Amino acid sequence: MRKKVTKAIFPVAGLGTRFLPATKSVPKEIMTLVDRPLVQYAIDEARAAGIKEFIFVTSRGKGALEDYFDHAPMLEQELRRAGKTELLETLRASNMESGEIAYIRQHRALGLGHAVWCARRLIANEPFAVMLPDDVIAAEKPCLQQMVEAYHETGGSMVAAMEVPPEKASAYGVLDVAEDLGAVVQVKGMVEKPAPKDAPSNLAVIGRYILTPSVLQNLNRIKSGAGGEIQLTDAIAADAAAGRAVYGYRFRGQRFDCGSKAGFLQATVAFALARDDLREDLRRYLNEITAVDRAAQ
Ligand code: G1P
Repeated sequence: MRKKVTKAIFPVAGLGTRFLPATKSVPKEIMTLVDRPLVQYAIDEARAAGIKEFIFVTSRGKGALEDYFDHAPMLEQELRRAGKTELLETLRASNMESGEIAYIRQHRALGLGHAVWCARRLIANEPFAVMLPDDVIAAEKPCLQQMVEAYHETGGSMVAAMEVPPEKASAYGVLDVAEDLGAVVQVKGMVEKPAPKDAPSNLAVIGRYILTPSVLQNLNRIKSGAGGEIQLTDAIAADAAAGRAVYGYRFRGQRFDCGSKAGFLQATVAFALARDDLREDLRRYLNEITAVDRAAQ
C-alpha cells in the first residue's frame, strides 16, 4: 500500500510584482477571481484530492492571507441573525479548522525550491503535494485528484504537465521524456526555463506536484540554478538522475496562468461564464463588444 498524500505545501511568498500597485497591500493570492480569492481555488482542489493539512510558505506582508482563513464570528452572527443562510454557508466553506493549517516564513526570496524546503520539518517521511495557486485549473475532476489517482498506480514523484508552443517553453520547467505512456510520461530529466534551443521537449511543468521525501533531501544539497534561484525543478530532476521514478502527468482540464494579467482576465471570463448567475449577462456583453470590435477593424 502506498502512503496517502495528506499534506500540501502552498508557496505564497512571492511579491506579486506583476500586479503592482494592487499587490502593495493585497497579497496576490487573495486577489479575486469572480468572488473567491485565487488561493481558495487551490484549497478546494486540494481538499477534493484528500489533503488534510495545508502548509503555507509565506513572507512579510501576507497578513491578509492569514486573516482570510480565520473564522469571522461577528460576520457569521450577523448573517445568521439576518437569515442569510446561503451566504453563511459560503463563508463557512472558507473556514479552516484549528490545526489544519500551518504557516512557515520564507525569510529570503531564494526560489521555489527553497520555499518548499522551508516546510521540510512539517512533512517528515511521506509523499506530499505542492500547489502553486497562480496556476488555476478548471477541470471536471480536479487536477490534483487526477494526479493522486495516477500516483497510486505509479508511485514516484509526479508533476502536472502540459504541451506548450515551443517558443513558450522557456517560461517553464520542461520535461526530458524517457517514455511517453499517454497520460503518464516517464521522465529522465527536467530543465528549468531552458533557452529555446535547449528545451528537451514542449511538455511543460504546471504548478501541481506530488513529491517523495527524497526531493526534500535533494533540496538540502541543491545549488542555485536558473535565475540564481534554488529550483524545485532541479531537485526533482536530481531524483530522476539518481534512477528514481519521476513522472509527468497530462491532466485533463484548462489551465490559466493567473500570475499574469492576461491569464487572470481570461480566467475571470471563463469562470464567470461557468456560473449560472453570471453567464447570460456576461455572454451578451461579450457578444456586443466583439461585434463592435469586429466592426471597428
Ligand atoms: C514555476 C516553476 C516552473 C513551472 C511553473 C508553472 O515557475 O519553477 O518549473 O513550469 O511554475 O507555472 P514560475 O512561473 O514561478 O517562474
